[in-house]
Parts: sequence; C-alpha cells; structure tokens
Amino acid sequence: MQRTVSSLPIAPPVKVKLISSGFQYVADLCDLRPLQLSKEAGISQQEAVDVLQEVRGKRDQGVAPGGGLTALELFEKEQGLGSIVTFCSALDSVLGGGLPVGKTSEVCGAPGVGKTQLCIQLAVDVQIPLCFGGLGGHAVYIDTEGSFLVQRVVDMAEAAVKHCSLLAEDTEQREALKGFTLETILSNLFLFRCHDYVELLAEIYLLPDFLAQHPEVRLVVIDSIAFPFRHDFEDLSQRTRLLNGLAQQLIQMATQHNIAVVLTNQMTTKVGNGQSKLVPALGESWGHAATQRLILHWEGQQRLASLYKSPSHPEATVPYQITGEGFRDVITTDCLNVSADSSAIPSGNACKRLRLEGDNSHI
Ligand SMILES: Nc1ncnc2c1ncn2[C@@H]1O[C@H](COP(=O)(O)OP(=O)(O)O)[C@@H](O)[C@H]1O
Ligand SMILES: [Mg+2]
Repeated sequence: MQRTVSSLPIAPPVKVKLISSGFQYVADLCDLRPLQLSKEAGISQQEAVDVLQEVRGKRDQGVAPGGGLTALELFEKEQGLGSIVTFCSALDSVLGGGLPVGKTSEVCGAPGVGKTQLCIQLAVDVQIPLCFGGLGGHAVYIDTEGSFLVQRVVDMAEAAVKHCSLLAEDTEQREALKGFTLETILSNLFLFRCHDYVELLAEIYLLPDFLAQHPEVRLVVIDSIAFPFRHDFEDLSQRTRLLNGLAQQLIQMATQHNIAVVLTNQMTTKVGNGQSKLVPALGESWGHAATQRLILHWEGQQRLASLYKSPSHPEATVPYQITGEGFRDVITTDCLNVSADSSAIPSGNACKRLRLEGDNSHI
C-alpha cells in the first residue's frame, strides 16, 4: 500500500502546501530535487530538504512486503463483498450483479441522461437489508454540482420499501423491514456539499476518518468529479497530478474500507482527423482512474447504458428508463413474458434470488 504524504511526520503547514500542490503520496516526492520541490510546492529550500530527508529515510528503511494472497482467497474475498443492485436487472446482469463493492466505477454521460438518478438509486439500494439480498449498508454522497434532490431520495426510498414489503415472506424479512423505512434510509445517507476542487480534495482527505467512525458505509458517490476540475487550472499538469492522486486515494478507500466508489463524469467534444466525437471529460490519463466505466447515452428517445473497460465483464449495452420510482428496466413485451424475476430484487444474494425464481407470487 502506498504511503501518503499526510502520514509523514513533518510540519503541518508544509504538509498542507505539499498536498494542495498535488503531492498525495510519498512516492511522488522520491525523485525530486530540493530546489524543484521548493518551487513546485511553494516551500523554502530548507523545508524541501527536510521533507526529502524524511521521505528517503523512510524509503531506505524499506517497507515490509505485504502478505500475499492466493487467487482462491482473493476470489472468495471479492465474492463476499457483493454488489449494489441498480433496480435495472438488465444493467445488473451486464455488471455481474450490480455495482461492485471494493472497486471504483465511473458513470459518464451528457447532462440529463440520468447519472444523478442512478447515483441516488444506488444510495437507496445499498441499504436494502441482507435478508432481501441487499448489503444493509450506509451511503456517503458528495455533491459537487448542487444537483442532489432529497425529494428524489424520498421517491426512490418509498418505492424500494414498498418493493421489499411486497416481497417479505418470512419473519426474518418482516423484522428487517422495521429497520428499512423512509426515515432510516434518509438518516443513513450522509451528504457532503463541495463547492470547488479544494473543498473536494479536503473532503476526500478527511473521509477515511469518517469511514472509520461509520464502518457500515458501503457506497461513496462523487457527483460529479468533472465539475470542480472543469477550469481554474492554468497549469494542466497540476490538474493531472491532483486527479491522479485523487484516483489513487479512491482506489485505496474502496479496497481498504470495502466500499463501492461511484464517480460521475461529464462528456466533452474531442476533435481529431477532421472529426469530432463525444468522450468522457478529464483527459486520457483519467480514463485509467476507475476500474470500470459506464456510459449513459441516448439513442433517439431511448436511454442506454454501455459498459466499457470492465476487467471482468464483456462490453455490452442495455436500455433503461427513469420513472417516478427511480432507475428501472425498460419493460418490453418480451420482459413481461419472461420475467417475474425482473421485479424481484434482481441480484446480490444468489440464495435469495434462487428462492425468488421459483416464486411467482411477488409483484
Ligand atoms: N420524478 C421523475 N420522474 C421521471 N423522470 C425523472 C424524474 N426526475 C428526473 N427524471 C429524469 O431524469 C433526468 C435527469 O437526470 P439526472 O440524473 O439529473 O441527469 P444527469 O445525467 O445530468 O445527472 C430528467 O431529465 C428526467 O428525464
Ligand atoms: Mg447530475
């Protein structure tokens, strides 16, 4: 695991200057000369020398290699983490059960296509009790655009509670519903509003402490990552450095705290070879930041979700819709014939799903 600059025993004002200049990890400092560091971080040369001595001292002491894992152990660990259903079973199938916990996912798309709706849906769905095939977790929602609408949480939460109450068939599930109400869903969704990239970086820096105090959190949403980084940068390499540091921190957070990290991103026009096309914003290097990328787009009146760059699932495109109740499958006559299951909680807990498949009595 990478050692962070924040953990170095150096003077706090120097630390703040290093972090706000984009140096998140000790490894970022290792190869710099004092003069270079002093210029880039706006610290004195003596301070730069002290920092580099500390950094090199730590590096030379060496870090004990982490304990290895067998592939079987890793497989079991990943299976155990589960995923968060989207309530669109077509998309859940493409994703292998929903948005994966322990990994970072990026949701890209043009304004109005449904990125925020999907994130709010996930913030509700992560709270579905275990006995319904959910994760029974809490959610952190970092809103950088001011587009979070609590009324949409209320709509989606009421629909999810109603859905589960219609599915409840044994005492365990009826008991669990007492802890899955509109009120509990709202109180287990923690909101942070960040107005610019400095506030966002500060929030991400503080988040590990918050997560340590709230171990039930299984989802962190940043909606959006692009908005705070859209301008204010004369020096684009500083932006790239800040974004790279952020990406590393988010991956670390996802794996260390067993959390699904979901980031939204806007689209931008890329011109090349006399043609222009829409691509996710923030540049090519950011394209490697998340484990998987989902692009939401339109084809005529139809909303479509396409999975790209997943290390474990093939690329695929499925339709979805946004209803008053939230993010949902597009109901076609084919679906109506096949799928009593599509209205059940579509994935997550395989045992539960198997039980639901044999049961046509639910909605
Ligand atoms: N209550 C609702 N019922 C149906 N559709 C809705 C509702 N609220 C929002 N929408 C749809 O969601 C779209 C906005 O999606 P949003 O997630 O905010 O987009 P973005 O991708 O910009 O985050 C609206 O254009 C509308 O089509
Ligand atoms: Mg939005």
